[in-house]
Amino acid sequence: DHAERNRLIEAYELAGKLYRYILLSTKEGKPALEYLRSRGLTDKLIELYGIGYAPAGWDTLAKLLEKREFALPLMEQGGLISSRQDGTGYFDKFRDRIIFPISDWKGNIIAFAGRAMGEAQPKYLNSPESMLFHKSRTLYNLHHARPHIRKSQELVLFEGYMDVIKSWEAGVTNGVATMGTALTQEHAEAIRRLAERVIVAYDGDNAGQTAAYKSIPILENAGCQVRIALLPSGNDPDEYITKYGSERFVREVIGTAVPSIKYKLLHFRKNFKLQEDGEKLRYIGQALKLLAGLSSPIEREHYVRELSSEFHYSYEALQQNLNEIRLQSEKNE
Ligand code: UTP
Ligand code: MN
Ligand code: MN
Ligand code: MN
Ligand code: MN
Repeated sequence: DHAERNRLIEAYELAGKLYRYILLSTKEGKPALEYLRSRGLTDKLIELYGIGYAPAGWDTLAKLLEKREFALPLMEQGGLISSRQDGTGYFDKFRDRIIFPISDWKGNIIAFAGRAMGEAQPKYLNSPESMLFHKSRTLYNLHHARPHIRKSQELVLFEGYMDVIKSWEAGVTNGVATMGTALTQEHAEAIRRLAERVIVAYDGDNAGQTAAYKSIPILENAGCQVRIALLPSGNDPDEYITKYGSERFVREVIGTAVPSIKYKLLHFRKNFKLQEDGEKLRYIGQALKLLAGLSSPIEREHYVRELSSEFHYSYEALQQNLNEIRLQSEKNE
C-alpha cells in the first residue's frame, strides 16, 4: 500500500544518507573511498551518484531504523535488514560493501547494490525484489539520463554501474544499465517510449557479446533502431575508459557502433573458416539469408555490395541469389 511504500522510500533515503556519511566523513569509510578513487571516480561523481559505504558492523543501520521507529518487518521485506535465525532481532543486509543507490526515474532510491571490495561473493549484492524494486523494469541511472535521452532521441545501454558512471564522466550522459545482461521486453518498451535509437554497449567478453546479440530482437520488436558498440574482448566500457581515455571511448567505441544487421554478420562469421572455399560459400549463403530479411531495398543493396567487394563475387550474382531466397520465403509464408 501507499503508506508502506512511502515509508520504505524514506528508509532507503535515510540509509543512503547514512552510508554516504560513513564513506565521506568517517575513518571506517577511508578504505572504501580509496577504492573508489583508485577506480577513477572523482568526489564530484561520488556525490552525484550518491555512492556510500555500508560498514562491517552487524547492525549499524538496523539500530538507526529502530531508533527512528521504522517498522522493522517492513524494512526486512524491503531488503534493508534481515531477521536473525534465533528470533532475537535484525542485522544489516549490506555489510562492508560500497553502496550504489538504485533510483526510480523520479530519483527516489528504491534499492541498493553493494559491491564487495575484496573477493567476497557475490561481487554485487542487490536488494531483493520488493514493493519498490522490480529489476526487470528498472534501468539504472534513468533519472539522470532521462532528459538527455529525450533530447538526443538516443539511449546507450550498458551492463553495469561503473560503466554508466565512467561514461557519464566521459560525456555520455544518455547511458543507463540493465544491471547485468538480462534485458527484458519491459525494459525495451520503456526505452522505446523515450528514444527511437539505442546503442548497446555491453561488455566485450563472451557473456556480454552473447547478450548484445540476444538484445537485438527484443529491442527491435519494441520498435527501436539498434546499433551495437564493439568493445575489444576482455574490456568493458569502464575498463576501456580507464585504459584509453574518454575521448577515444566516445570516438572509437560509441561513435563507431554498427547497425544490428552488420553486427549479426560480424557475430556469426566467426563460426566459418573463411579461407576455405566451401566455408566461404556457406558463409555467403547465410549472410544473404540474413540480408534477405531486411525490409529496406537500399540497405539490402548496401550490404550485398559490401559482400561483393569483400569476397570478389559479382554484385549481380549475389543479388540474384538474394532474390531467390526472398521468393522462396514468400512462398513459404
Ligand atoms: P560485471 O560482472 O560485468 O561487473 O556485471 P562490472 O559492472 O564490470 O563490475 P565492476 O566494474 O567489476 O565493479 C555487470 C553488472 O551485472 C550486475 C551488476 O549490475 C553489474 O554492474 N551484477 C554482476 C550483479 O548484480 N551481481 C553480481 O554478482 C555481478
Ligand atoms: Mn540524483
Ligand atoms: Mn559483464
Ligand atoms: Mn563489466
Ligand atoms: Mn567493470
